[in-house]
Amino acid sequence: MTLVIAVDGPSGSGKSSAAKGVARALGFRYLDTGAMYRAMTWWMLREAVAVLDADAVAARSAEPVIELGTDPDAPAIQVDGVDVSVPIRTREVTNAVSAVSSVPAVRKRLVLLQREIIAPGNIVAEGRDIGTVVAPDAAVKIFLTASEAVRAQRRVKELAADPVATVEVTRTEQARRDLLDSTRKTSPLIKADDAHEIDSTELGLHEVIEAILRFAKEQT
Ligand code: DC
Repeated sequence: MTLVIAVDGPSGSGKSSAAKGVARALGFRYLDTGAMYRAMTWWMLREAVAVLDADAVAARSAEPVIELGTDPDAPAIQVDGVDVSVPIRTREVTNAVSAVSSVPAVRKRLVLLQREIIAPGNIVAEGRDIGTVVAPDAAVKIFLTASEAVRAQRRVKELAADPVATVEVTRTEQARRDLLDSTRKTSPLIKADDAHEIDSTELGLHEVIEAILRFAKEQT
């Protein structure tokens, strides 16, 4: 029997590190769906598509060839054969990704790709709508949260090379993105009814991984 573990939650909740850690512990593959929305956004910006124009984004959304690895130790992502692992993490992409990921044509295409990757099972998939839309039958669903302040601090660490990314700027930008991600019409960020919520505000990474592994064991 194969297993799918869905990990959803807002930005900075520690999803990526926790999902990778769980995948490593179980010898599973790892799917970062946020990286796919970021890759699509990177491509739109490079092509000078007006990202706030949903029709313009939809019209070009079938063009980029997005390929991504599922090794938790090296989850490389390529667009049209170019490795974009680094440029998809810039503030420019981060601030445009909510607009691009709210376009139904973009979601439709990427969700199909995600389901193909998930289908063979034994995978930890992280995102915003894994437990609700992408893999509603996943046997294990986690909804990871943390206080807004702690999430902003974690993001700042990730953006250490960017001098504009102070805690305050990051907190404001993150609050805006969370609001857009939770209120969009197509697949908003919401906790699945059958998801197990873990608040990571006071927990270290190891404790979050242990909590997920414990819950997964109970469910299977
Ligand atoms: O997890 P992340 O911060 O890298 O995700 C980037 C953006 O992509 C986030 O603002 C919301 C969007 N996203 C989404 O809409 N659905 C997903 N399954 C994953 C990410």
